[in-house]
Amino acid sequence: MFHRVLLVGFMGSGKTRVGRALAQRLGWSFHDFDEEIEARAGLSIPEIFRRHGEEFFRRMEEEVGKEALQARRAVLASGGGWPVAPGRLEELGPDTFSVWLKVTPEEAVRRAAAEGVGRPLLAVDDPLSRARALLAEREPFYGKAHAAIDSTEAGPEELAREIEDLMNERWNNS
Ligand code: S3P
Repeated sequence: MFHRVLLVGFMGSGKTRVGRALAQRLGWSFHDFDEEIEARAGLSIPEIFRRHGEEFFRRMEEEVGKEALQARRAVLASGGGWPVAPGRLEELGPDTFSVWLKVTPEEAVRRAAAEGVGRPLLAVDDPLSRARALLAEREPFYGKAHAAIDSTEAGPEELAREIEDLMNERWNNS
């Protein structure tokens, strides 16, 4: 069986919620890249961006990602920007099942505002245009995941069930 599941997708696509639900279903541990970065830095993501800049954040993200990808029986939720580097998803290796949670830019912006969690990349005058542009840039990277499912309508439990089925299917056909 796969050793881990990695969820990728845009901000607000539900990676954390779905990841928690899936980890519970599977009886696996859950690792959220952003939470780990915040714990290590002792700062919130917006504070890290403000004080140290995006590049510093990306370096921490790379390090946290590398470590998380060693975990077994684990569900991982990356940040929205983690897959956006050449080879990130292509080089995961055979033990990791990757899933792209798809969301529309409209819904992503709506959720980001409702959740009130700071997303420095969307803290601009026109977040919707920003989200559209970023998503267009990132889709080719997210698209390298083994599977893609639409998270715009469905809730975390339903999505977690779907991902478990997709994972088993892929494993049985491999
Ligand atoms: C980012 C997404 C955020 C967080 C940071 C940068 C991005 O994570 O890592 O604000 O580049 O898309 P979520 O996708 O969990 O919101």
